[in-house]
Amino acid sequence: MSLFVTTTASITVDRNAVVAPINRRIFGSFVEHLGRCVYDGIYEPGHPTANEDGFRLDVVDLVKELGSTTIRYPGGNFVSGFKWEDSVGPRDQRPVRRDLAWHSLETNQVGVDEFARWCKLTGSELMMAVNLGTRGIEAALDLLEYSNHPSGTALSDQRIANGSPEPHNIRMWCLGNEMDGPWQTGYRTAEDYGTLAARTAQAMKAADKDLELVACGSSGSAMPTFGDWERTVLEKSYEHVDYISAHAYYQERGGDLGTFLASSLDMQYFIETVVSTADHVKNKLRSSKTIKISFDEWNIWYLDEHQASDEVNDEWRIAPRQLEDVYSVADAVVLGNLMITLLKNHDRVASASLAQLVNVIAPIMTEPGGAAWRQTTFFPFSVTSRLAQGDVLRPRIDVGTYETAKFGAAPLVDAVATADSESGASAVFLVNRSLTESIEVTIHVGDLGASSIQEAVTLHDEDVYAKNTIDDQERVGLKQLEGATLEEGTLTVTLPPVSWSALSLA
Ligand code: AHR
Repeated sequence: MSLFVTTTASITVDRNAVVAPINRRIFGSFVEHLGRCVYDGIYEPGHPTANEDGFRLDVVDLVKELGSTTIRYPGGNFVSGFKWEDSVGPRDQRPVRRDLAWHSLETNQVGVDEFARWCKLTGSELMMAVNLGTRGIEAALDLLEYSNHPSGTALSDQRIANGSPEPHNIRMWCLGNEMDGPWQTGYRTAEDYGTLAARTAQAMKAADKDLELVACGSSGSAMPTFGDWERTVLEKSYEHVDYISAHAYYQERGGDLGTFLASSLDMQYFIETVVSTADHVKNKLRSSKTIKISFDEWNIWYLDEHQASDEVNDEWRIAPRQLEDVYSVADAVVLGNLMITLLKNHDRVASASLAQLVNVIAPIMTEPGGAAWRQTTFFPFSVTSRLAQGDVLRPRIDVGTYETAKFGAAPLVDAVATADSESGASAVFLVNRSLTESIEVTIHVGDLGASSIQEAVTLHDEDVYAKNTIDDQERVGLKQLEGATLEEGTLTVTLPPVSWSALSLA
C-alpha cells in the first residue's frame, strides 16, 4: 500500500554533471543455449525467413530494432559444461550432449563459428564466456586460439578449414559464470575461483594483452557470500582482470507492486557495494587500476514460478520451453528504470547484458514456423538504446516518496538524461512509480540548449498487467506522451501512474 505525498516533481539537468560518455556496451544482451533461445529462437532452419545458416531473419530484424550491442554467449549456467570443440566443424559430425544445467539435449548445430556469423548479421559484438566449471585454463586458451589467432597454428587453421578465414577477434571474455552459486556445475569457493580466474586471465593475456576479462562477481545481492566473494576474488585476480560481473533479477512478489516498482534501488545498492569493495581491494593492493562492473545478467524473471511452468521432466529434450516469461506493462516500467540506473552508474558499470534475448526471459518471442513479436520490455530497451547518445548526465531530482515494504521510502520519480555535443541531440528518460497518481514534472533543460521536442513516448496502460501474447502480439506498445511542452528551457511533462517515458530534444 502506498502513501502519496506529492504529485509534482522538479528535475534539473546540468550539462556539466557528466557521469560518463556512453559506451555502447551498456546496451548489451545475452544468448544462452537454454530452452528456445538458440534452437527455435534465433535458429530455425525450416522457417520461411531462415538464411543459409538457418538463422531467422525476422528475428535478426527485431534484434537490430532492439539495439542490443554486445551479446554474451553461450551461457550462463550452460557454459559450465560446454565443450566448445563439439560446436565447430561439419555439422553432421557434431555430437549431441547432455546439458546438465538445464536438463536438456544440446545438438551443437549452432556453435562458435555460426554464432560469430550471427553477430555480424545483427551488427553486434560477441562477448564470449569460457568454461571454468568442468574445464579450465587449457580449454580457455584453445578457444581463444581457435577464435582469435589469424592463421598458422593448429586451431586457427582448423577454424579456417571450418569456413571462417577471418579471426572472430573477440575482445571481451567472461571467466566462467556464477561460480559462487551452488547450482553451478563445478561451483567453487571464492578462494579457489579467484585463484583459477587469476591464472586463466594471466594465461589468456599472455596470448593477447589487450583482451578485456571479466571475473565472476556475485549471482545476486542476496547471496550469503555477497561482498566477501568480490573481495576475495579480486584480491587474488585484481591485476589480471578488468571487470567484475554482477547479476540481478527482479520480480513482483506477493502482489507488492510498490516494492517491485522500486527494484532499481536494489540494483543501486548492488552497484555501490561492488564499487566500494573493488576500490577497497584497489587501495589494499596499492593498485593504480580501477575495476569496472560488467552487469552481464539483469532483467525481470519470475524465478519462483519457472519450475512450475517449464517443460522440465525426466526426459532429455531438445530446446524445451523454459523460462518463457510473458511480461506486463509493470515489468517493462521496472526494466526501463533498471536501464536508468545502469546509465546513472555508467562511470563504473561499463558494460551490461539484458538476460536474455529471444524466448528465454526475453524481449523477443517466436513461434516455430510462425511469427516473432515484441514483449512489453522490448520498448524501453529499444528506445533507450536509440536515443541515449553522447554523455550520460545525472539530473537533480526533487520529488516526494512513497512507502515500500522492502525499501522504506522510495522516490516517486526516477530519471536520467543524455546529451550529445556533436549532434546537439539530448534525451530524458523517466519513470513514475506511483500506483495511482499522474505526476507533473518540470524539467529544467536550459543547459542543453534545446528548442524543440523531437519525440515524446510513454509506456503505460490502464491495465498494468497487460501483456503481448501469441494471440495478441500488439496489445501493448508505445504511446505518445501527450501534452509535453518545451518553453524557454523548461520542459513540462505529465507522467501517468506506473509509466516509463522518454523524450528526445533537438
Ligand atoms: O539467465 C538465466 C540464468 O540465470 C543463467 O544461465 C545463469 O547465469 C543465471 O542464474
